[in-house]
Amino acid sequence: MKRIAVFASGSGSNAENLIRYFLDGTKGASVVLVVCNRSDAGVISRAEALGVDTAVMPRADINDPSKMLPMLESHAVDAIVLAGFLLMVPPFIIERYPGQIINIHPSLLPKFGGKGMYGAHVHRAVVEAGENRTGITIHLVSEHYDEGAVMFQASTEVKPDDTPEDVERKVRQLELEHFPRAVRDIILTPTTHTHAADE
Ligand code: GAR
Repeated sequence: MKRIAVFASGSGSNAENLIRYFLDGTKGASVVLVVCNRSDAGVISRAEALGVDTAVMPRADINDPSKMLPMLESHAVDAIVLAGFLLMVPPFIIERYPGQIINIHPSLLPKFGGKGMYGAHVHRAVVEAGENRTGITIHLVSEHYDEGAVMFQASTEVKPDDTPEDVERKVRQLELEHFPRAVRDIILTPTTHTHAADE
């Protein structure tokens, strides 16, 4: 069984969906830890309600190898999934988990990625740009925001009169439908993915 740590900063709907998907023990992996940088984030109570260990770690602790690595090692973590995690993953974590750190981004990267592009900001930018499609991108994490190898994308239509809230609803539907299975496929495939074909 692969052991997953989910890193999240917000409401945690994706974290909860991942926890539930792997909960029955038949999928070859399970979520064993949720790391969150904000003590008031909804993800903490969602994880606790499902019996998953949580660690609230401010940015300074996440960036400190002497705090972060023992936390991951004490839970024997094999892979890390970012589900609405708004901090950079420090290089020492990326080196420790090559090809085993996965992010979900709520647009069709490379469009609408980069610093400051998260959650509602992304959907607003999509509407303002007049895009007629958007979607989700599940990718490996490199030292640069939103730039690792793309492993999975799914798209949805943006209608001319859609609001950013309409777009967010459609994108969340795609996230709920695809994210856990894509995570499973990536972490259970026996390669490190450090040099995926689209790099
Ligand atoms: C999700 O839509 C996720 O794709 C996005 O944050 C939201 C978190 O929602 N991530 C990014 O924008 C990363 N750049 P949640 O806390 O309810 O899962």
